[in-house]
Amino acid sequence: MTPPSTLRRGRSHVARGASAVAILALGVTAAVAIPAQAAGSTLQDAAKGSGRYFGTAIAASRLNDSTYSTIANREFNMITAENEMKMDATEPNQNQFNFSQGDRILNWAQQNGKQVRGHALAWYSQQPGWMQNMSGTQLRNAMLNHVTGVATHYKGKIYAWDVVNEAFADGSSGGRRDSNLERTGSDWIEAAFRAARAADPGAKLCYNDYNTDDWTHAKTQGVYRMVSDFKSRGVPIDCVGLQSHFNPQSPVPANYQTTIERFAALGVDVQITELDIEGSGQQQAENFRKVTQACLNVARCTGITVWGVRDTDSWRASGTPLLFDGSGNKKAAYTAVLDTLNSVSGTTPPPTSTPPVTTPPVTTPPVTTPPVTTPPVTTPPPVSGSCSAALTIANSWPGGYQGTVTVTAGSSGLNGWRVTLPGGVSTNNVWNGNVSGSVVSNAPYNGSLGAGQSTSFGFIGQGNAPGAATLTCS
Ligand code: G3I
Repeated sequence: MTPPSTLRRGRSHVARGASAVAILALGVTAAVAIPAQAAGSTLQDAAKGSGRYFGTAIAASRLNDSTYSTIANREFNMITAENEMKMDATEPNQNQFNFSQGDRILNWAQQNGKQVRGHALAWYSQQPGWMQNMSGTQLRNAMLNHVTGVATHYKGKIYAWDVVNEAFADGSSGGRRDSNLERTGSDWIEAAFRAARAADPGAKLCYNDYNTDDWTHAKTQGVYRMVSDFKSRGVPIDCVGLQSHFNPQSPVPANYQTTIERFAALGVDVQITELDIEGSGQQQAENFRKVTQACLNVARCTGITVWGVRDTDSWRASGTPLLFDGSGNKKAAYTAVLDTLNSVSGTTPPPTSTPPVTTPPVTTPPVTTPPVTTPPVTTPPPVSGSCSAALTIANSWPGGYQGTVTVTAGSSGLNGWRVTLPGGVSTNNVWNGNVSGSVVSNAPYNGSLGAGQSTSFGFIGQGNAPGAATLTCS
C-alpha cells in the first residue's frame, strides 16, 4: 500500500492506498418495499422518498447570509455544526462550558424543522489549550466530564453524536492514532461511548473517521475490528460515520459500497458524514452519483451529509467540492445527486445486486481480515423459515481467496440460518458468522431477517477459489 499523505488545510489529509485490488461488488442488504410517491424537487425531499436524510454542515457565522441560509433551509433536513460543537468551542476553559454558537445552529435547525448531528465529543484535534497539555487520569476524567457536559446540554435534541472522531492512524498499521487521549489507555474510546450513552440515551452514538471508505485499507479494517469488538462486548455504539472527503488523489473507491455493507452487517447504521468531492462538471457529478447510489443500495446507510453548502463555504474551497457554486447555483453534481435519490423514490426498491467491477489481477494478499471475536458455536441456533444463499468471490490471490455469501430470507423471514460451504472449501476465518466444519451459522446480530431481507458473511479460503455458486441454506 502506498504510504498515505495525511495533510490538512492546504494539504490533502486523505490517505491513499494505490494497489489495485480485484473487487467484486457484493450482494447488498437492501430489499425494502418503498411506497410510491412523487419525485422530490429538493435533496431533502428526494432523500425522504427512501427513508433517508440529506444534510449539510453549517457555520454559524454564515447564517446571516441569506443566499446561504435559503439554500440550507430549502435543501437539507439534517444539520451538523461545522466547528461550533467541538471541544474547543464548547469548553474553552475547564468546566466552563460555552454553548452559544452551538445553540445558534441547533436553534436554527429546530426552528426550521431539521434534525441535528452532533460533532464531535472527543477528538485529538481542536482540543482547548488547557486540555492539550493534560495527560493520564486527569485528562481521562476531563474528557469524560466534557462528553457528559456537552451530551447532557443537548440531551434529547441530537439525532446522532460523533462521540469519537478520527482515532485511527493513517497508513498500513490499522492501529490507533497516537494522541494524548490514546495515551490515557486504549479503552478511552469505549469509556467515551459509555459516558455519552449515560448522558443522552436517545442519541445514536457514532464513531467517525476519514480514509475509511476503501474496504481494503488497513485503517478501514482497524475501525471495523473495533466496531465488531464493541458490538460483541456490548459497548454502546449505533453507527459508523464515513467522512468521505474525496479528490483526484483519493477518488471514490470502487469498493465503497462493500465498505458500507460490511459495517452495516455488524449491526450499526452507516452515515456518510462529511461528503465533498473535488472536481467539476460531469466527472464530479458522476462521483457524487456513485456515492449516493452506494448509500441507497444498503438499507442501513441512513443518510448523507455534505460538508458545506456552496463551494466557497468549503474548508477546501479551491477544489470546488460541493453541490452549489459560489453564487448558490445548482451544479451538475447537484442534479446527479437529486436524480439518483429520486430513482428509488418510486415503487422500485433498491437493487439486490451490483455488477462486478473489473480491475487488474491481484498480486498481493488483501489486508488481513479481522478475526471473529465471538466464541465458536457448538450448538447451532434454532432455525425457522426458508432461505437461499449465494457465494461470490470478492478477491483472490495465489494460494487463497476471499468469499462472500449473501443469505436471503424466504417469504416467512428467518430467525437464525445455517449455510453449508461448497465441498473442498476449508476455512476457519469467517466474519459475520460462526463456522463449525463446513457449516456457517449466523452471528448473534444477523440471524433475524424479515421476508426477503439479506445479510452477508465473509471468509478467507485456502487454495483456488471455487466459482460463484448457490449454496444450501436452512
Ligand atoms: O473563526 C476563526 C477566525 O476568527 C480566524 O480569523 C481564523 C484564522 O485562522 O480562524 C477561524 O477559525 C477556523 C475555523 O475553521 C473556521 O473557519 C480555524 O482556524 C480552522 O482550524 C477551522 O478549520 C476547521 C477544521 O475542521 C479544523 O480541524 C474547518 O472549518 C472544518 O471544516 C474542519 O472540519 C473537519 C471535521 O471537523 C472533521 N473531519 C475533517 C474536516 C475537514 O478538515
